[in-house]
Amino acid sequence: MAILEESKRIIEDKRFQGMTPAVSRILLSSPTMHDGERYWVDEAIRTNWVTTVGANINAVEDELKGFIGRKEAVGLASGTSALHLAIRLAGERLYGQARVNEGVLSGKHVFCTDMTFDATINPVAYEGGEAVFIDTESDSWNMDPASLRKAFELYPEVKLIVVAHLYGTPGKAEEIRRIADEHGALIVEDAAESLGAGVFLSEDTPFDRGRNSGDREEHGRLLRQTGCFGDFSVISFNGNKIITGSSGGMMLTDSAEAAKKVRKWSTQARDNAPWYQHSELGYNYRMSNIVAGVIRGQIPHLTEHIAQKRAIYERYREGLADLPVSLNPIPDNVRPNYWLSCMIIDPDAMCYQKRTDSTAEYRTEPGKSCPTEILNALSAFNAEGRPIWKPMHMQPIYSAMPYVSAFDTDNGRDIFDRGLCLPSDNKMTEEEQQLVIDIIHRCFR
Ligand SMILES: Cc1ncc(COP(=O)(O)O)c(C=O)c1O
Repeated sequence: MAILEESKRIIEDKRFQGMTPAVSRILLSSPTMHDGERYWVDEAIRTNWVTTVGANINAVEDELKGFIGRKEAVGLASGTSALHLAIRLAGERLYGQARVNEGVLSGKHVFCTDMTFDATINPVAYEGGEAVFIDTESDSWNMDPASLRKAFELYPEVKLIVVAHLYGTPGKAEEIRRIADEHGALIVEDAAESLGAGVFLSEDTPFDRGRNSGDREEHGRLLRQTGCFGDFSVISFNGNKIITGSSGGMMLTDSAEAAKKVRKWSTQARDNAPWYQHSELGYNYRMSNIVAGVIRGQIPHLTEHIAQKRAIYERYREGLADLPVSLNPIPDNVRPNYWLSCMIIDPDAMCYQKRTDSTAEYRTEPGKSCPTEILNALSAFNAEGRPIWKPMHMQPIYSAMPYVSAFDTDNGRDIFDRGLCLPSDNKMTEEEQQLVIDIIHRCFR
């Protein structure tokens, strides 16, 4: 059914009687600007540093490496370019420098998070590697360590793991590091969505328990920031993230040599010679000093944004408590940044829903609902939800690649079928959020 017709049908459905659409669109997650952004952008223009060098880039790198607790940070054009160079670094360290027309992962398998945005894992393909997708655990919606162990039984030669923290909730970083260490594998950590989130280190943590600059003590437990758990880690400043530069990304590491390489590669890989000379493949991936100005103005507001997102999550938890649904789970040993609030419907409260590669249909049933119905109803009332990231092993582009699960069921597919992302914009008012909560209730009537 066409979108407009479907919206009209929903608004006229007697379950939604008396409700009117939101006056302005209730967004999933949009930029939240303050005053500092304009100041630092103006400063870059005033001083004519309108390029990929400048004080804003230096400040953003310094402030974030201190906040997160890494020795090195390199500002890049996007999270995707940061992931590309992180994966290229890992590949080169593992397998050596590739011929210029070949990827560093040519012919190699790489273990990858399955339920994520494709930007996490596309760089494996850019470098000629073949992803092996690892199933998702239900208690954090991230890479399942048991499935990772099983994958090492099937592919003992693998030396690289690309792991993401979804929706701002960290995954099992310690267990994944232990498994990686047992197999001499490197980790590329995609913390694009999880800036400001952390993991409470356990007594027998495989990570160094010495204090690093990003660690925080909370009730006697040591919280370490995401962005510290990969050999090479990545964050994103895309417009929908917890803080933004409109775009932008960053690669974090403790290796000065790796950071130096990324600086070089990201600015066309010029050799130290009096002319343009190249002995390595280069990219135009460096962060702009204007973008960095926006990020510089956002950094002081990170904690406030996290608190706003947390309040949104808590209001959903309370407001939806009487329905057969739960929110995206938060394990005890992590502190999320609450970037997106998501929900999942109990299996026996799902109405009929059928999705193909390009269409979705459902049948309303009393007392039941499904993501398609709720997303359509939100849209009809001018609110923006999203499906859960469709797992990579279900994507047409990657469906021929191996997928490993330690379960009989397919957790990623199940979360995709029954889950959805809720409007989680910092600027959403309590009244607007109440409208969203009401719509969801009425879907279950
Ligand atoms: C998990 C994840 N990885 C990578 C990216 C890519 O970041 P960017 O959009 O900055 O390229 C995003 C988001 O955009 C993301 O959500």
